[in-house]
Amino acid sequence: LTAEDAQRVMIPSMAYDMPFIIGYAVSFALFKTYGIPSISKILKGTRELSSKKGISKRYMDVNSTYLRFLSATWIACPISGKVYKDEDELTGYKSFFPFKSSVKEVEDDPRAMISLARVNWLHSKYPIKNDDYLYTLGLFAFEPEQWTKRYGWRELSPLECEAYYIYWREIGKRMGIKDIPDSAEAFKAWVEDYENRTMVPAESNHFVANYTLEELLHVLPARFGIKNFARRVSITLLDDIVREAMMYPAQPPIMHFLVGNLLRTMSFFQKHFCLPRIWTNGPIDAKLPDFAKNPSALPTLPRMHPKQFGQKPWYKPEPKNLLEYVRVRLAVLMGLYEEMPNKNLKSDGYRLEELVRLISKTGHEEVLRMAEQLQGCPVAGPWARN
Ligand SMILES: *[C@@H]1O[C@H](CO)[C@@H](O)[C@H](O)[C@H]1NC(C)=O
Ligand SMILES: *[C@@H]1O[C@H](CO)[C@@H](O)[C@H](O)[C@H]1NC(C)=O
Ligand SMILES: *[C@@H]1O[C@H](CO)[C@@H](O)[C@H](O)[C@H]1NC(C)=O
Repeated sequence: LTAEDAQRVMIPSMAYDMPFIIGYAVSFALFKTYGIPSISKILKGTRELSSKKGISKRYMDVNSTYLRFLSATWIACPISGKVYKDEDELTGYKSFFPFKSSVKEVEDDPRAMISLARVNWLHSKYPIKNDDYLYTLGLFAFEPEQWTKRYGWRELSPLECEAYYIYWREIGKRMGIKDIPDSAEAFKAWVEDYENRTMVPAESNHFVANYTLEELLHVLPARFGIKNFARRVSITLLDDIVREAMMYPAQPPIMHFLVGNLLRTMSFFQKHFCLPRIWTNGPIDAKLPDFAKNPSALPTLPRMHPKQFGQKPWYKPEPKNLLEYVRVRLAVLMGLYEEMPNKNLKSDGYRLEELVRLISKTGHEEVLRMAEQLQGCPVAGPWARN
């Protein structure tokens, strides 16, 4: 299995079969890393810095949205940098399933490597240990397997499990992570051992975990104990070793019973009563944006828009006609969005090499040079900046 094949094997489970469970698995994977003191110390520094500068919680939201777009992009877009055009144009991911006999045309799609280069660039500003990179990588590779085994309507097949490992190993290599174990089994054992050795209680763990959890929960109302209950559900979902490292209290057996059964009921319902998904609703459109197909007719530095929006509709285009205006206005009245799309919320869209701008405005050209190295060919056309 090559890394490109692995990505093709991986995407149906992530995008179509179990997007929610695997989405949670990935979010919790990220959350779990806050149980390692050497990781939480670095994160605590950035959080404190931002609260000292008076950057509001709202701004933090943007930041995590940015980061989520970057990883969603290298997952959804082909890491080979190529799209095969003959395929079904209906659903984005199929357009890079090359059934080689029928390939007519190949197009460049450098999005995956630009987003990865951007994250490499951001990472390079912090003193992160190789082992901590390796641990985080391992969680991305194996948590989906764990979660689908526990709560999915189906398990991942052995081929899929291997594909997750191979795909993330390739991403790890391209992040410059060293000593990645050369089989899934060896890597899993390493992750478990690392966790046993380093996941210990620390005040910084609690600080970062609490900070992040409260951020996530802030949209929920405190009424009827809803927020409090959601907080306890989240803590219940943590393994003991993680919960202890984060210095959260143990939850009573009744919570474990409720949460476990709730999730299992949902998967039972999905398995027996739901039709297969025919479209996917991730934040990133895997299909190439129109400007990539017709680059000559474009302004310089064309920008992209996501498919999903939070309460603050960052990067949502401003309505272009009355019908769109009415639709968005209604969504605002219903409370789906807090305000109309506008220039302050970057309604003209984003460019991958500019995402996460709070840290610094620079580095855009440098990121594109790094992307070229990763994909082994120039970033050209509408993707370049010159
Ligand atoms: C945004 O994320 C970057 C990278 O993780 C971090 O350095 C920066 O402090 C964050 N900004 C805020 C406002 O938290
Ligand atoms: C990690 O700790 C758990 C629980 O103490 C133990 O069962 C497991 O064997 C340990 N794993 C490794 C790789 O040391
Ligand atoms: C958890 O975070 C919230 C909001 O950021 C804060 O008000 C609270 O004091 C924190 N709790 C602990 C125990 O650190």
